[in-house]
Order: sequence, then structure tokens, then C-alpha cells
Amino acid sequence: MKQYDFETVIRRFGTGSGKWDEMAKYGVTGEDIIPFSVADMEFKNPPEVVDGLKRFIDNSVLGYAMPTEAYKSSVANWMRRRHEWKIETEWIKDSPGVINAFFTAVKAFTKEGEGVMLMTPVYYPMYFAIYRNNRVLVDNRLIIREGRYEIDFDDFEKKAKHPNTKLLILCSPHNPTGRVWTREELERIGRICVENDVLVVSDEIHNDLIMPGYRHTVFASICEEFLQNSITCTAPSKTFNLAGLQTSNIIIPNKEIREAYWKEVCTTEGNPKCNILGLEACRLAYDNCEEWLEQVINIVHKNHGIVKEFLRRELPQIRLFDMEGTYLLWMDFNGLGIEYRELARILREEARLFFDDGYIFGDQGAGYERWNLACPTKYIYPALDRLKDTLNKHMK
Ligand SMILES: Cc1ncc(COP(=O)(O)O)c(C=O)c1O
Repeated sequence: MKQYDFETVIRRFGTGSGKWDEMAKYGVTGEDIIPFSVADMEFKNPPEVVDGLKRFIDNSVLGYAMPTEAYKSSVANWMRRRHEWKIETEWIKDSPGVINAFFTAVKAFTKEGEGVMLMTPVYYPMYFAIYRNNRVLVDNRLIIREGRYEIDFDDFEKKAKHPNTKLLILCSPHNPTGRVWTREELERIGRICVENDVLVVSDEIHNDLIMPGYRHTVFASICEEFLQNSITCTAPSKTFNLAGLQTSNIIIPNKEIREAYWKEVCTTEGNPKCNILGLEACRLAYDNCEEWLEQVINIVHKNHGIVKEFLRRELPQIRLFDMEGTYLLWMDFNGLGIEYRELARILREEARLFFDDGYIFGDQGAGYERWNLACPTKYIYPALDRLKDTLNKHMK
């Protein structure tokens, strides 16, 4: 078995990395410090992708691009191999990002003043898609039951039944709570949406990052009715850390929905373009990098275990939620009795830890932090020590 390099961190200051430059902006610096924020991994990209792109550049011209059949077949094969979902290549629309796709869907399938449902707390750009387009948030708040986030189905159904609710943006697996929705949960969601004419945009950008013991189900693969009532957003950008190449795969089986979606893209963008290197990187990754991905999942899982074990022992006041999928650990610091903005300051300025503050995901996230665990394990131990030493000074 090939062993990849997951130890070398490239210090990305000044290379145009949003994650690193933001950390510097907050003054969190130091030779031994890496960011634990934004869903972007601190691993070198798979060599199969890097070398493949070099070969491609040597033999190509970087002019205007269009999605090739090779790219589309790779996406279709990936969905079949990894997710047991058989798709037609014509269902695939490329997009510079999943955020672009759910913004487009909100504009194409709802009108101003109409309701878009989210299961909150949730990935914050989903709120932007609603507010910036003058739509109304239909807030289905997740509930914590026995330490695990669950869907409040009574509330979900009540809100889906409201005639003003037109669209659900489903985050699956769920960022930031780390839940991998079970097939049964997805069936209930889908059934309620079909019965109430609520279109489902299933953001499955994290669907390849599933921890051992859990299983992701593609929402649209459950049955024909869900297939015809959904837009599935996938991408190689989280799975292989290729977000900078702006290529995601938006899978829309229903012809009418697909055409309405594309019409909105053309209206908004004029002449939609795609990234020639992104398409090639996606193809290279899906065709060649499963082993790399398995190794990444193992490291993230190991990091999760180390953090869980340490915090349970040393800082039991922090409540942890099992990271079933994604590489983002959701942690509740409210038990420490520190005001949430002060907590954020302490973590950055004193502990020199750069997490994502929970309140950006919705008000339920105040006092929570999200830790990106896709990094070499050697950075986890000193971070935990700094966390413990700093918080011990502040604990009431
Ligand atoms: C749930 C979710 N959706 C979408 C995105 C961003 O997607 P893109 O970069 O393709 O717009 C992220 C990035 O963290 C995410 O976590």
C-alpha cells in the first residue's frame, strides 16, 4: 500500500489562502501554529492530482473550457462506486461552487418573500442565500437529545406544510454538528417534502468524509420521487482539498428542474464558465485517489479520538458531539461559564488557537467552537495543551 505524506504542512501565508491570511489578520501567529478554521485541509494535495495537472499544463492550452465527457464519466463512476448511486452524465451541471449552486436554486425556485427551510445551526452561507435574496428563513432548529443532534420532525412537518415554504437546503452530512443523517431520517425528510411540494437542495459536499461506523446515503438515491424532487450538490473540493479550483458537480435528474436551474445560471452569469484545471483535477482525483482519501479519513478519525479522549479527561466541562462525518468537530464550551465573545478572544489571543466561532452558524452556536481536524496529528497535541493551560486560568 502506498503511504502518502500527511506530515508536511505547507505554510500558506501570502499564497492567497483565505484560511491562513485570516488567521494572520487576527494576530494568531507562530512557527508551531496552524489554523483549525475553514473547511480546508492542512494536507498536501494527492500527488496523482498534482502530477496529473503538471502533465495537463504541459500538453494543453489554458483557454475557455467546457465540461468534458471524461470529467462527467468520472463523476458518474465516483457516485456509483462510492455512493451506490447510478446517474446519467447529462444530469450533471458543473458549477464554480456549491454555494453558487444553492444561491442559484433559491433564485430559480422561490420568489421574494417565500420561505426557505434550514436545519439550524448550519453552514452560514445558507443564511446568506436567503437573506441576500430577500427570501424568508424557515428555521427548523435541531434539538440535542442525549448528546446528539436530532431533527425536530413535528416542527419540520409543521413548517413544510406552510404554503409559503418552497425549498429546503439540506446539509448532509451536517456542518457544523457532524451528523450523518440516517436513511430513516432522510426518508422522513423526503416524504414530508414530496407531500408538501418542497424542493430539496441536498448539499452533500462532505459526503465522502464519513467516519468508520457510519454510512452516508445520497438523498436522491432513496427513491424515484426524491430523485425527481432534488438537486444534489457534490464536489471534489472538500474530499481532495481542491476548493481553490472552483469545480463542483450539481446533479439534477429532473429535466424541467435542470433547465430552470441552468436558465437562472445563464441569467445571473451571462456566460457561465468553468475552470479547465478544476475539471481535470476532479477527474484525476475521482479516478485515482481513493487510497489517498481512505488514509485521510483514518488520520481525521485518529485525531478525533485523541481530542475526545483528552478533553473528556482534562476538560470535561466541554461538551463534544460525535463527529460522524466531515472533519469538523463541534464543541460546546458553555459549561465553562465564559461569555462567548470573550471565549473567542481568549482562544485566539491567549491560547493561540484559531477555530471557527460557533455563533456564525446561528444563535444556537454561541459559546461553541468548530475544530477542523484535517491536519497532521503532531499539531493536535500542542493545541490541546495550550487549550487546557489557558482555560484552566479562566475557569470559574
Ligand atoms: C456544507 C458546505 N457547503 C458548501 C461549502 C462551500 O462550497 P463551495 O466552496 O463549493 O462553494 C462548504 C465549505 O465549507 C460547506 O461546508
